[in-house]
Amino acid sequence: MTVVVLGSANLDLVYAVDRIPAPGETVLSRGFASFPGGKGNNQAVATARAGADVRFIVALGRDAAGDRLADEARRAGIALRARRVDDPTGSAVIFVDRRAENSIVVDSGANAALVDLTADELADIAAADLLVLQLETPLPTVAAAVRAARAASTKVVLNAAPSTAVPADLLGRVDVLIVNEHEAAELASEPAGAGEHALLTALTGHGCAVIITLGADGALVGVPGKAPVQVPAVPVEAKDTTGAGDAFAGAFAAALDRGTRATDLAALVAATEFATAAAAIAVQREGAVPSIPTLEEVEALRATL
Ligand code: RIB
Repeated sequence: MTVVVLGSANLDLVYAVDRIPAPGETVLSRGFASFPGGKGNNQAVATARAGADVRFIVALGRDAAGDRLADEARRAGIALRARRVDDPTGSAVIFVDRRAENSIVVDSGANAALVDLTADELADIAAADLLVLQLETPLPTVAAAVRAARAASTKVVLNAAPSTAVPADLLGRVDVLIVNEHEAAELASEPAGAGEHALLTALTGHGCAVIITLGADGALVGVPGKAPVQVPAVPVEAKDTTGAGDAFAGAFAAALDRGTRATDLAALVAATEFATAAAAIAVQREGAVPSIPTLEEVEALRATL
């Protein structure tokens, strides 16, 4: 059973600050570190650490950052299908304040060159049981990957982050959509504050299962035509929420892959419970990739609940 993750990889440049600078303001950092990141990379690591066989389709620059991301992904047990391109490896500048809030600027760099899927990349998708995607990759590539997956009966999990408009026909081809409330409002074209139940109803109208992550309030899980189920969060003190959504999406994919990969409500709720525990561990640690827990760590936390 293989999960293919197609998506971005960035080198994260992380600054711990007392408060995120306002426009025109300069603040001194309390500490700096660089970590592997990027939503695709984080989700590939999270899926692998949660016990799945993972292949990661990615574009990296021919630079030191690309070498580092490739090495660390391999060390995480990921089989890489990496293109090395002339553009610099993607990067992200991340400010994390004392309340664990963050602010992120991404330079796509090489990630923007992940276009025109090759025969090998399409074959990987067709051979996989599950395809996991995010939106730091050009949308036509995401659409082409979803079409290839559907043609081969590979199940598709789309984490529609960062918030971007996605055509309805693409949403209609996805099996499971994972979004936070902000992303859900953008995709559902509903006003901010519409309420998560209204957003869930609007999004399941595309025919896909939908998970809306709600931070400290857990997650709302819905499938078309059934009453949604609220999964509570594990109460913890957050230190750094960077990559927590990725830890959730990757752990969710691994849990789904470990089961029957059915996308009925019961299977989705079980996978969401596992993913919620993974995210609870991730927010208590710094960085994106370094914060992602292993299967054993998630199971140990769940045993205490
Ligand atoms: O979701 C967190 C990620 O968003 C970071 O690792 C950063 O690279 C950006 O892609």
